[in-house]
Amino acid sequence: MDALSYRDCEAWRAEGLPLSTSSNEACKLYDAILTQYVKWRNIDSVGGIEGCITAIKAADPDFVMGHVLSTGLELVGTATSLRLDQRLASAVKRTVEMAASQNLTTRERLHVKAMELFSHGNFPKASDVWEDILVDHPTDLLALKFAHDSYFYMGAQTQMRDSVARVLPYWKPHMPLSSYMKGMYSFGLLETRFYDQAEKVAMEGLTLVPDDAWAVHSVAHVYEMTAKVDKGLKFMEGKEKDWQVSDMLASHNYWHWALYYIEKGQYEAALQIFDSQLFKRCKTSGSMLDIVDASSLLTRLEMEGVSVKERYRELLQVTLPHTDDHVTLFNDLHFLMTSLGASEMGASRRLLEGLQELAKNPGDNYQHKVAGPIGVPMCQALMEYNDRHYDKAVELLYPLRYNMVQIGGSDAQRDVFQQLLIHAALKSESKHHQRLGRCLVVEREAARPNSPLTNRLMQRAMALQ
Ligand SMILES: [Fe+2]
Repeated sequence: MDALSYRDCEAWRAEGLPLSTSSNEACKLYDAILTQYVKWRNIDSVGGIEGCITAIKAADPDFVMGHVLSTGLELVGTATSLRLDQRLASAVKRTVEMAASQNLTTRERLHVKAMELFSHGNFPKASDVWEDILVDHPTDLLALKFAHDSYFYMGAQTQMRDSVARVLPYWKPHMPLSSYMKGMYSFGLLETRFYDQAEKVAMEGLTLVPDDAWAVHSVAHVYEMTAKVDKGLKFMEGKEKDWQVSDMLASHNYWHWALYYIEKGQYEAALQIFDSQLFKRCKTSGSMLDIVDASSLLTRLEMEGVSVKERYRELLQVTLPHTDDHVTLFNDLHFLMTSLGASEMGASRRLLEGLQELAKNPGDNYQHKVAGPIGVPMCQALMEYNDRHYDKAVELLYPLRYNMVQIGGSDAQRDVFQQLLIHAALKSESKHHQRLGRCLVVEREAARPNSPLTNRLMQRAMALQ
């Protein structure tokens, strides 16, 4: 690896973030992994994240923060959990034991504690611990990133914004990765509806680092949430070369691009993105973000009347192994969309029953706690909708619409459920539901004016009168 560009033991110490290892190589690899995590990009010259993880364990097998980083990344990836994966459970246990036997800094001990809490699904307490670290070490980027991800999975939008706002003044331009703070802050701003400020901050970030795919992504969200469809298309196309190299986020940015096409009713263009990017990438990466985006895009197209049955069947091969995951409700709901879309009723029922079972004894697991009041009825609503019991789907979803945020994800991602509620209401035979559907469309137009998709829904609502 490039010995010059990453921080060694002394450099970390000088920044007030000492790492308990005597291996300069391990310290530099820690930096290289963190850098790739922040950039959403596997850097080939250092072997990508996976290569660095192998190398860091070889450089110093007892480097606790190396284990915290590798196991933590696996956990925030949400593709597996302790309940399902004995290897992961052992990795967490080994890290905790290793930490207990070593003379670590308080900051490192807190990192171990937060990672352990997160591994048990206790996202709120894990976030509290990462925030404790940030009070004393506001430039601890690993704590900030893990907290950011954890908030995202809880739909903790305000926390996601304020967590970054609190530490921003401590970041000076000369500090490595400081320019990436802009994109992170922008995301919290837009999720709390400060769209103008979010766009401004993200654009500032892109002036500093044009290839910050997360800042590009923030701008994509701003144009999505304000229905500036043509602006969004032009922006994504103009920046494609910059963000495409961020392999861990590229698929998601293509998904945002496809949403603009759906807005415009250009379904073939959206399908082309699904075929050429989303589906291929999710098969190769196995990343949860890539998989849920593919599911979401098909469901959105289907609601628009596009036939995607065959594509659902192909995608099912990717989602099926995750039927029993129940790591996050957001993921589960997207797996269910695909199994229902592919008419795979066995897997659909199995997913719902598994979640219902976990909801009975959630313990400290945030997602399983939220499953009872929100996740399970949302799954049931999808199943009722699929069975054309639109009235039941409305009755399940309508009371939850202001609480759905708790399943995590972004406003733009969760919009699929808001759209589904409107479709269910308009398709229901109940006149009351149909009027409700129209009210929801009016409300949608007020919050996000000039959306072609909303206009199409309005025409359907008017036709029912
Ligand atoms: Fe997004």
